[in-house]
Amino acid sequence: MSSADRKHLSLTLNGKTITLLSQPSAPLVDVLRDEAGVKGPRIGCRNGDCGACTVLIDDEPYKSCIVACARADGREVETLDGLAKDTLSAVQEAFWSHNAFQCGYCMSGHILCLVALFRQQDKVTRQDIDDAIAGNLCRCTGYQNIVNAALSLIDR
Ligand code: FES
Ligand code: FES
Repeated sequence: MSSADRKHLSLTLNGKTITLLSQPSAPLVDVLRDEAGVKGPRIGCRNGDCGACTVLIDDEPYKSCIVACARADGREVETLDGLAKDTLSAVQEAFWSHNAFQCGYCMSGHILCLVALFRQQDKVTRQDIDDAIAGNLCRCTGYQNIVNAALSLIDR
C-alpha cells in the first residue's frame, strides 16, 4: 500500500482525540492495535463470528474486524483499555468476583457488550444479557459465570 492510499482519520479513542494516517478500508481492529497501540480488541476469527475484537463506537458494540476504519472517523471509540479509570468498572469488577473468565481471550468482547447493555437500559433482564453476549464465543467457561457476573449487576 502506498502512502497516497492513506487518509487522515480523526476519532476520540478512550476519551482522547487522536489523528491517524490509515488506509480507509483497513479493518478497524488492525488500525487500533497496530497504529493506535491499544491491545484490548483481540483478533480471533477475523470474520465477524467470535466477538473477540468488539469495540464500542458511540456506545454501540461493533466487531472491529469487519468494520472499515473510515467508519470510525469523527466518532467515539472505546476499547477495554479505556474502561477502568482509577478502579475497575462495575462490569469488570463483577467478572473478577465471579471468576467469569479463564484464558481471557473473549473477555474484552463480553465486557464491552455488557457495558453497552447496562448503559443503554435501566432495566436489564436475563434475556437481555443472553442477547447482548450472543455474538461472543468463549471456548473456556461454558458462559455460566459470565452470565452470573452480569446478573449480579441487576438491581444493584
Ligand atoms: Fe472479529 Fe472474530 S475477530 S469477530
Ligand atoms: Fe477463554 Fe473465554 S475465557 S475464551
